Amino acid sequence: MTDNLVHGGLDESAELRQLRGEAAALRAELEETNQGVLALYAELDMQAAQLREASDLKSRFLSYMSHEFRTPLGSILSIASLLTDELDGPLSPEQHKQVAFVSTAARELSDMVDDLLDLAKIEAGRISISPAWFDMFDLFSALRGMFRPIVDTSAVDLIFEAPKGLPRLYTDDKKLAQILRNFISNSLKFTQRGEVRVSASLEGEQEIRFAVSDTGIGIPPEMHEALFEDFSQVDSPLQKRLRGTGLGLSLCKRFAALLGGRVGVESQPGIGSTFYVVIPLAMAQEHVDES
Ligand SMILES: Nc1ncnc2c1ncn2[C@@H]1O[C@H](COP(=O)(O)OP(=O)(O)O)[C@@H](O)[C@H]1O
Ligand SMILES: [Mg+2]
Repeated sequence: MTDNLVHGGLDESAELRQLRGEAAALRAELEETNQGVLALYAELDMQAAQLREASDLKSRFLSYMSHEFRTPLGSILSIASLLTDELDGPLSPEQHKQVAFVSTAARELSDMVDDLLDLAKIEAGRISISPAWFDMFDLFSALRGMFRPIVDTSAVDLIFEAPKGLPRLYTDDKKLAQILRNFISNSLKFTQRGEVRVSASLEGEQEIRFAVSDTGIGIPPEMHEALFEDFSQVDSPLQKRLRGTGLGLSLCKRFAALLGGRVGVESQPGIGSTFYVVIPLAMAQEHVDES
C-alpha cells in the first residue's frame, strides 16, 4: 500500500516534471514566435510607410508633370488656332492640313495630360464635388460645342437627342460632363462610319441614365469587365492604333462613384457600343466632399 503510494507519488512527480518541462519549452517557443511576430509587424510598418511615401511621390510627380505640360500645350493649341484663322495672313491648303495635324496631336496630348492630372487628384483625395441645380439642355449644348471642331471634319454624325420631359438635376455638372466627354471621344475615336448618339432617360424615379451609343468597332464581351480598370485597353490592331492612356474609362467610373452613381457598357464587336452612366437625379448629401 505504502509502496504503491510512494511509487504512485514518484510517478506523478515524474509526470509533473515532464509536463512542466513541456510547458517551459512551449513558453519558450511562444516567446520566440512573439518576437518573430513583433519583428514582422515592424517590417510591415516600415513597408507601409515606404508605400505611402511612394504613392505620395507618384501623386506629386503626376500633378507636377501635368502642370508643366499644360502651359506649353496651351500655347501650341492657341497658336495653331491663330494660324487656322489666318489672322497673320492666308495659308495654303497644304499648310491648313499641316496645322490641323498639329492641333489634333496637341489636343490628344492635352487630353492625356488632363486624365493624368485627374487621376493624381483622385488618388490624393483632392477631388471635390460641388453639386448645383442645372438643366440638361445646357449640358448637351456645351458638349456639342466642345466636339464641333472634331465632328465638322469627320464622317461620323454626333447626335444629341433632345432631353424631353426630364427634370432639372442636382449634381456636379462638370464631373458629369467629363464622364460624357470621355464616352463621346472614345466613341468618335472607335467609329469609322455611322453615328454617335447621346441620350438621357429616367431610370426609375430617383435616377437618370445618360447613354452614348456608337456604330463603331465594338468590344468583345470578355473585355467588358476590365475596361473600367486603370490602363486597360482592348488588344486588337485597330484599337491599338487609336488608343490613348487607357485611363479615360477608369476615371469615368471613379467620377460616377463620386456622384453616387455607376457606369456600364453593352457592346458587340462589329456592331457598336453603348456606354452609360446612371446617377441620382439629386445627389445625396453624404457624397458631397466638404474639403
Ligand atoms: N466606344 C468604344 N468602341 C470601342 N472600343 C472602345 C470604346 N470605348 C473604349 N473602348 C476600348 O476601351 C479602351 C479603354 O478606353 P479608355 O479608358 O477611354 O482609354 P483610351 O481611350 O485612353 O485608350 C480603349 O483603348 C478601347 O480599346
Ligand atoms: Mg478614352
